[in-house]
Amino acid sequence: MNTYSLQGQVALVTGADSGIGKGVAIEMAKAGASVVINHVDAHEVAQQTVDEIKAAGGEAYAIHADVSSEEEVQNMFAEMFSKYGTVDILVNNAGLQRDSKFVDMTLEQWQTVIGINLTGQFLCAREAAREFIRRGVVPGRSKAAGKIICMSSVHEVIPWGGHVNYATSKGGVMMLMKSMAQELAPHKIRVMSIGPGAIETHINQAAWSSKAALDKLLTLIPYGRPGVTEDIGKLAVWLASDDADYITGTTIFMDGGMTLYPGFADNG
Ligand code: BGC
Repeated sequence: MNTYSLQGQVALVTGADSGIGKGVAIEMAKAGASVVINHVDAHEVAQQTVDEIKAAGGEAYAIHADVSSEEEVQNMFAEMFSKYGTVDILVNNAGLQRDSKFVDMTLEQWQTVIGINLTGQFLCAREAAREFIRRGVVPGRSKAAGKIICMSSVHEVIPWGGHVNYATSKGGVMMLMKSMAQELAPHKIRVMSIGPGAIETHINQAAWSSKAALDKLLTLIPYGRPGVTEDIGKLAVWLASDDADYITGTTIFMDGGMTLYPGFADNG
């Protein structure tokens, strides 16, 4: 793979101040993209990611926006256009969990997760697609007019009790991604998802930070280790690059085999 395959391109990564988003932002910057670090928490934290990227010779800029707010998303795109002129890659990464037993789940827990994980992806993708269509393919920069990478999860296919809001949001992301891909392909826009399994971040810290929890988690991962954010970052770079120019409308699972129904290895 060409390490600098995103040279000259602008990438917006939502929720890029921590976790998988930060890993994706760092790898995209290494590949030569100018990266917008979207964040909703403290500016100082996002600025640290910007500083890290710049210290390594990359280019990045932090913009605050709640992706579930249409107005904030539109303001973020306007600020990105005044800073970098356009956008070539959107990584729809911002997401969260608000876990609860189904019967105890509040409407607020439901709406927060759907609002950020699903509506947020819609709002950002719509703005990106509008710009990709307006601008079209730029010869010499990328074969596509634009690329949208949706951060999904193994839970777009694996049901997840105790997390019904989250699994529903990711099932929704799957059809959002596929339907957008179908509609936008004639405009030379590629749309695809990454379906991470258990990647070590703060979102699932309880599942890997103690030995007992990790042993239990590993029964779900045939490959025998949790993922790290660099795994996902490198995949995102490849998917956005012209090496993956014929990929659209599909989810690439990166999960150490979590979607292989490991419980069936010695049962059934
Ligand atoms: C969730 C994590 C979980 C993983 C595997 C992810 O989408 O956010 O909390 O560990 O799926 O179950």
